[in-house]
Parts: sequence; C-alpha cells; structure tokens
Amino acid sequence: TRVLSVASECAPLVKTGGLADVVGALPEALAASGVEMRVLLPGYPAVVAALGASKTVLTFADLMGGEARVEMGESGGVPLLVLVAPHLYDRSGSIYMDDHGRDWDDNPERFAALCLAAAEIAAGGTDWQPDIVHAHDWQGGLAPYYIRKRGLDVGTIVTIHNIAFAGGFDAGRMVRLEIDPADYHADGIEFYGRGSALKAGLAYADRITTVSPRYASELMTPEFGMGFDGLIRARADALSGILNGIDMTVWNPAAEPAPFAYRMPRGKPKATAALREEFGLPQSSGPLAVVISRLSHQKGLDLLLEALPSYLEAGGQLALLGSGDPGLEQGWREAADRHEGVAVHIGYDEALSHRMMAGGEAVLVPSRFEPCGLTQLYGLRYGAIPVVARTGGLADTVIDANDAALKAQVATGVIHDANSPDALAAALVQLCDLHGRPAIWRQIMRNAMRHPVGWDASAAQYARLYADIVEHA
Ligand code: ADP
Ligand code: GLC
Repeated sequence: TRVLSVASECAPLVKTGGLADVVGALPEALAASGVEMRVLLPGYPAVVAALGASKTVLTFADLMGGEARVEMGESGGVPLLVLVAPHLYDRSGSIYMDDHGRDWDDNPERFAALCLAAAEIAAGGTDWQPDIVHAHDWQGGLAPYYIRKRGLDVGTIVTIHNIAFAGGFDAGRMVRLEIDPADYHADGIEFYGRGSALKAGLAYADRITTVSPRYASELMTPEFGMGFDGLIRARADALSGILNGIDMTVWNPAAEPAPFAYRMPRGKPKATAALREEFGLPQSSGPLAVVISRLSHQKGLDLLLEALPSYLEAGGQLALLGSGDPGLEQGWREAADRHEGVAVHIGYDEALSHRMMAGGEAVLVPSRFEPCGLTQLYGLRYGAIPVVARTGGLADTVIDANDAALKAQVATGVIHDANSPDALAAALVQLCDLHGRPAIWRQIMRNAMRHPVGWDASAAQYARLYADIVEHA
C-alpha cells in the first residue's frame, strides 16, 4: 500500500510539537508492515536545505499566486515530497507566524496549496501515486475535500492531533481556496460563521483517527470537542484512536552521553545528581521532577504553579524546560527566583530535554486536555515516573499507583483529576511518599521502563486501517 502523508511538520526537519515526531516516525514504523509512505511537506527554508539530491516530479504555473513545484527526495531516511513555493514558504520567522508572533495572514492559502498539491499527486500527477492520502490536523484538512470533489479513486484519512486549531478562514476566501460555495454549510465546511480547514477533513475524509482511544471518546463530548463534537458523533463509525509511539532509537537512556547514560533503575542516581548540578539545584533526598513542554493553556502549567508549595514542602524539586505564553514564562521565572527547589530554563532545547529525562525521577504532565502526549512516554522509557492528569492519551498510557495496582505490581505512575490544583498537589505529595519507599519506587521504575512505548502495536493498527480502506473502496 502506498500512503501519502500530508503535514506541516516532520521531525527532525521542522518541529514545533509532537505532531512532527509522529509524522517523522510513521514512514519507518510502517515499512515493516509493507506500507510505503511518503511525507508531503511545505518547502520551508529548513526543509529545502535538508533535502538531498531530488528530482522535480510536478510543476504548477500558478499555485496560490506563484509558480511552484514538487521535489521528490529524502532526508534522514524519511521519503519526502516537498512543495517548493517561495511565495508561500520562503520566509523568516516560525513556520506559522511572523517575527512578531502573528499568524501569517495567508496561512489558509499556504496550507490549501499543500492540499491542492496532495490532490494533484493523488490524481496521478507524479509517477508515485498513492492508494491513500493521510492528512494531519487542519493543515492537511482540505486534502480529503479536494480529493473527494475530484472523484478520485484514493482513500483518505484525517488524523486529529489537536482539535484546538480549526484552521479558520473568512467565507470570502473560499473561491481563492478553490472551495465550492455550495459546500459552505453546517454539514460541510462552515464552522460557526467561518470556514474551517479541519472541518473539511472531518466531513470529507473516509476515516478519522486521533492519537489515543480516550481522546477519541472525549472528542465526542462538548467539553473536549471544541465545537466539532456533533460532527464527530455523527461520524463515530469512521472514528478510531491509535496511540502514538516514540522513536526507541532517539529516546534510549543507554545511548545518552555520560554521566546521563544507564540501563537499569540503579544507574539513574548518577544522572539525577548531574542534572541537579546542571540546573543549580541543591542535592537532596526528595524526588527531582521535570517538565518539558510548550507553555500554553492546554498544558496546565498554571495549575502546577498553584500546586507547587505543597510539593516543595513535601521535599520535592522541579526543573522546567519550556517556552510559549509570555505570562507563563514570567510566572515560572518568578517561581524559580522565589523557591530554592525550582529551576527553570525558558527556551527550546532538544539535547537538554534528553538530559532531563535521564536525570529526572518524575515527569509532570498536568494537561487540561492531551490528545496523546509524548513526554510521559519518554518518562516511562527513562524511568522518570509520570505524574499525569486523567485525560486523553495520558490516562491511556500510565497505570496509576493505587493500592490495587501496587499490590499487583503493575503501577507505572501517578494519575490525578485534570484541571484541579488540589488533586495535582495531592498527586505530588503522593509522589514524594512513593519516592521515600525504596522497594516500591524501584518496582514502579522497573514497570515503567518495561512498559511498551515503541511504535510496533500502533503501526500495525495504522496498517490494518489502510488495508481496510483499500478493501472497502
Ligand atoms: P504537544 O505536541 O502538544 O506540544 P507532545 O507531548 O505530543 O505535546 O509533544 C511535545 C514534543 O515537543 C516532545 O517531543 C517534547 O519533548 C518537545 N518539547 C516541548 N517543549 C520543548 C522544549 N522547550 N525543548 C525541547 N523539546 C520540547
Ligand atoms: C498534539 C497533541 C499531543 C500529541 C501530538 C502528537 O500536539 O497536543 O497530545 O501527542 O499532537 O500526536
């Protein structure tokens, strides 16, 4: 089966969050199941620079106001199709925003262009023709729509990584976006008085997936569906949740640089001491927890600020790496100034995130909602015990250290009610308590480090889904 993956990010080339990791990992993870996947990416400067030898496989005289072409090649083992369109992608700033942090005005056109290219490839515009087009988030949302409108014999999937981004645009832009005004209605592309690229995907794709089973059910509720829950309920038969995995080669405690490398729980204390030193935290007998996160409302790190005093009083320490919301950055800087047991690094730093997983004894993920979450999976592999909110993929991947689980010796972490500073504080106090009982702590670490977090099971589920779509076409 040939699958064209359509996405705005792909690790290690271009990443703002977990979407990139998933898109970058799928081609290799699926190869073993006989799936041949290529990733269609926008030609951002970093992507064009990383693309090795390539060949032009498709040209457009005018794609959203300029010449464009698709280059076929690969980078770091990921088979790529890159849409080179300087008028859309050759810009400084981040991939979604200008240097002042404002969304690019033409984001709807930039990603509609990507989806038009996907439809052209699906239509046989290149030698490499996919059986299935797999679109990710709103940036890929229009691909299933364009493919359906052209009546192409190609299956389509849209994966929701985060429903908070609808890919909205004013109705006046429809013609430019090559959307038939007849499709601007509540069962089509209209979303509360505007158009939505994500809704196009949800309404027109053959199948909808999201990145954990629990988030799949949550999406059908008003609390989590963010206005899409009605449509998703109506399409419940087409919906499934498939957990993300992590790259076991990239995230491997044994492969970290010394003194952060270890294989067994007993090797971690060395890394923990080194991490304390790196963050200027005093050596201590309480747990050292880490947070590696975008600083956004979703992630609940304002709740963690509230819960912090109870945790510190119980003997815990915290090292945080993150960037994003200026108010949260400020709040965390102040917390680090105020408390000896808190250290903060504002920024984005891949290598540091590895050392933190290696040295951290716990990883905190207090999200308000979390489609899957990757850092709790890294935490499991590294024996950094996850303390997570009971929501989405967090609840699906961690086994709470309640009495029954401790007795059965299967606990891998601590789960607390989402959106509650008190519940979070109680979980952190429990963490300190568990950490103070060496035999139990060692047991939880062993369970965590043995918990399967790679791609095997999920890749097989995607492969089955693709096969299913092809058979039913
Ligand atoms: P989301 O995609 O919602 O941000 P995930 O947990 O799925 O959440 O993925 C986040 C990814 O981004 C992880 O790989 C995490 O390690 C990484 N990450 C987030 N913030 C930082 C940071 N400040 N420095 C380095 N890596 C980060
Ligand atoms: C989104 C979600 C996150 C998920 C990631 C990859 O960014 O917020 O929970 O792990 O996508 O699917």
